This record gives sequence, C-alpha cells and structure tokens, in this order.
Amino acid sequence: MTPDMISARATVVLEANWRTSHTVPAGGLYPHQWSWDSSFIAIGLSLLSPRRAGQEMDALFAGQWRDGRLPQIIFDPHRDQDYAPGAAFWQSGSLADAPARAETAGFIQPPNHAWAVWKIHQADPDESRRRSFLERNYPRLVDWHNYLSQRRNRGASGLASVVHPWESGTDNSPLWDVAMKRVPSECRTPLERPDLQHADAGERPSQKEYAKYFWLAERYRDHECDDVDPEYPFLMEDPLFNTLWALSEYALADIASELGLPAAHHMQRAQKVIAALDELFIPELGCYAARDVLDGSLVPKATINGLLPLLLPGNPNAEVLLETLHGPRFMGSGAVMVPSYDATALDHDPALYWRGPAWFNMSWMIAEALDGLGDVKGATSLRNNIGFLAASHDFPEYVDPRTGAAHGTRKFSWTAALALDAASDRSKR
Ligand code: SER
Repeated sequence: MTPDMISARATVVLEANWRTSHTVPAGGLYPHQWSWDSSFIAIGLSLLSPRRAGQEMDALFAGQWRDGRLPQIIFDPHRDQDYAPGAAFWQSGSLADAPARAETAGFIQPPNHAWAVWKIHQADPDESRRRSFLERNYPRLVDWHNYLSQRRNRGASGLASVVHPWESGTDNSPLWDVAMKRVPSECRTPLERPDLQHADAGERPSQKEYAKYFWLAERYRDHECDDVDPEYPFLMEDPLFNTLWALSEYALADIASELGLPAAHHMQRAQKVIAALDELFIPELGCYAARDVLDGSLVPKATINGLLPLLLPGNPNAEVLLETLHGPRFMGSGAVMVPSYDATALDHDPALYWRGPAWFNMSWMIAEALDGLGDVKGATSLRNNIGFLAASHDFPEYVDPRTGAAHGTRKFSWTAALALDAASDRSKR
C-alpha cells in the first residue's frame, strides 16, 4: 500500500467523523469529544487543514473548567443515550467551576495537548501565526498545567495522580488491578453498556470492572470533583501521564519563547516532573512502574505506559528501556506493533483492550521516541507497520500485536490521524 493510498483512506475516516467543530473518536462507540484523542487527531488534521486542527483544539478548550481542568469528555447533548456515563450522570452544569456553555465529564485525561499544539504550529508556522494559534492556546494550556500541579499533586511527590483508570487513557491496564481491588463494585447508577453494541464483550472491560468504574465516578462527582476527598480509594501516579505532562511542559517553553514570553519556569517544571518520575523506574523490571499513592507501593508490571518515558529527551534509562522494548516481552515477541502489556505474562490477552493489544497512538509515540534517539530505521519500520495495518483493516481501534488482526471498533479517528502522520513526509525527519 502506498503512502498516498494510506493518506486517502485516512482522510475519508477523518471527514466522516468530523462534527461541525470537532472529531468524534468513533461514530458509534465514542460519540462525543474526548480530550487526549483530540490532540492526536489534531496532529493528523494539521496535515489536511491547519484551520481544522485549530478548530479541534478550540472546541476542546470550550469545555475547560474555571479551575483549569481540561475534561476527559465534552458531551454532544444529542447523543446522551449513546454513551455511559454521560452528561445526565455528571450534571456538570451544577458545579461552580464547570463551564456554563458545555456539558462535560469531571475527570481528565493525559496532558498531551501542549505537545500537540506545538507540533501543529510547526506543521505550518505562517498559518499558525496568521490565526494567532499559539496566542490563543498558551494561556489555556498554562491554566491546565496549573490544575495538574496544584490539584493533582495528591502524593506530594511532584507527579500528577489520576483518580480513575479512565484518566490514564489505559482503562483496564494491569497497572490498576491491585488498587481496583479496594474499590467497591456496588454502584448506584444502573449499569448501562452501550459500548457492547459496538465492540465484542471479550474485547472490552468486564461488567465487574465497569461497576467499579461507575462507583469511582459517583464518588468523585458526589464530592463535587474537588480533588480533596480524604477517603477516595484510587490515586495512582502513571508514568505515561507524567511523561506527557513533562513533554507538554517543554512544549510550553517552546511556545512561550516563540511568543516572546519568559520560558524558564516551564523548563524547570518539566525537569521537576522528570526528576520525580525517576522514583518510578525499576531497573529489574526494565521499565517504569505506576505508584499507588495510598500505600506508596510500585506496581511491578511491564506495560507500554512504563516504556514511554523513552520520549523524554536525554533519559538516562533509555538503554534499559530499549532493551525491554526490543526484548521478548514487547517487540521481540514477534510483534508488528508494540504490545500494551508484557507478551510473556500469563494474563496477556492480545484481544482485550489494554491488557495486550497494540494501540496505534502508543506505537506512534514509540516511533517518535526512536526518532529522538536517532534510530531512524526503527522508527520508519514501526511507522510503515502503523500505516499499513491501519489502512488495510479499516482503521481499527487496536490490533493483535503479533498477527495484526483488527479488534475493537473500526474507523477510529486517532488511528486514521496517526496513520496519516506516519505516512507523511513530516515523519521522515
Ligand atoms: N476509554 C473509555 C471508554 O471506553 C473512555 O475514556 O469509554
């Protein structure tokens, strides 16, 4: 398949999933606007239309709260029956800090936004300047990062905590299993699963996991999403979430410099997050772990989340991480894209959401990291597989890491956007 064919097919998906001001991750399974999805999508859109990439970010920030939080989901009021928990569950309009003109979830997602904004600017700096793209987004991004440092430093380690598996973006990753044991499964909300109309039950989180997801969401909402609930049972420091925060903080430094503003405090904050991340590195595991803030324990499981600190420039652990990446637990398992979880683990399942399958955004980020480390051949080979597998399987949500067989929903927007990027000349840097 030629790069032009991949781009043409990806463009059709992005066009079909565009809704007036934003892109839905998938028309059926995910009918609203998702936070970190939009950043990946906008990176792809910037190749088609920088204007549309700007609109995607504007629509997302229209949902920003007064406390700076950038919510996980901005709901489309016409689709509230089609996704759970939706706007009727969150009732964000009743909370003082929530925006007046948008209905949103109270949770957040990984902060890849400043990183994306800087990439979009670089794709066409003249167009970006004409539209004041950076001027518009810089203050929003600063507020968002302040929310993370002021409200989410729950472990006082300098890292941001996630308060729900959904906030990590890697919902049922084995990293959350132990902490989820202490979460009750008796939620009060009737457990609706519209997701199962669009994906096989064997490829989605279980009913029990969903009951716990709902219990946590109820608890967080009922505490007015205030981030101070002393009895809240799930607080985790995720290496991927914090890696993206550090990268985004570096991107804010670039954006500030471009705008002629002071940038040093952004560099310092990035370095502080990176120094704190070092406590999550387990040399014997060969990668970073997640930390359970409630008891301080590290979760020694090898996941894609723990490999992605490879993205951090000058990471002194890069050699160990590369060995793990190329070893039998990840690419050395005969993988065509990077497994989300240790391929040698007994509970690795190549079809089950975040417990084994390879996701396109993760492999795309690994390719970015390999570029940064000067492994252009490795990055190109991964990008070739991303483009080919995406376009030949109708842009699946995730794939079996070894066979490339498609799983989850199809016509998935970030798969299309990142395949577009992977197939573009921009990637041949
Ligand atoms: N991944 C979640 C879901 O499956 C949303 O963030 O609904």
